[in-house]
Amino acid sequence: MSIWIDIGALDDLPLRGSRCVQTPTGKIGVFRTADDRIFAIRNECPHKGGPLTEGIVHGHSVTCPLHNWVISLETGAAQGADEGAVETIPVRVEGTRVLLLRSAIGARVAA
Ligand code: FES
Repeated sequence: MSIWIDIGALDDLPLRGSRCVQTPTGKIGVFRTADDRIFAIRNECPHKGGPLTEGIVHGHSVTCPLHNWVISLETGAAQGADEGAVETIPVRVEGTRVLLLRSAIGARVAA
């Protein structure tokens, strides 16, 4: 059975907003899109490690704040001519809470 870790309230994540969660395996960016979908990816741009949660969310993508690469929230891949990808993390909403798959982020979460 999959174990999911509660990382916070959905209400704390505004539409087109994001949140950085520190986990044993590194920082995870959790994003909420304008159409109210939730995505989670490693919070390090595949270009030079820019903090993606500080970027602009548009459609199902985020634009890195450092050099404007566009990263798909669905696949983690850089779009256009840019190459590279970040790992996507399984995420789901249960009631009013946001949860990440524990096996993808390590055993503990210090949110
Ligand atoms: S570090 Fe993200 S575009 Fe350069």
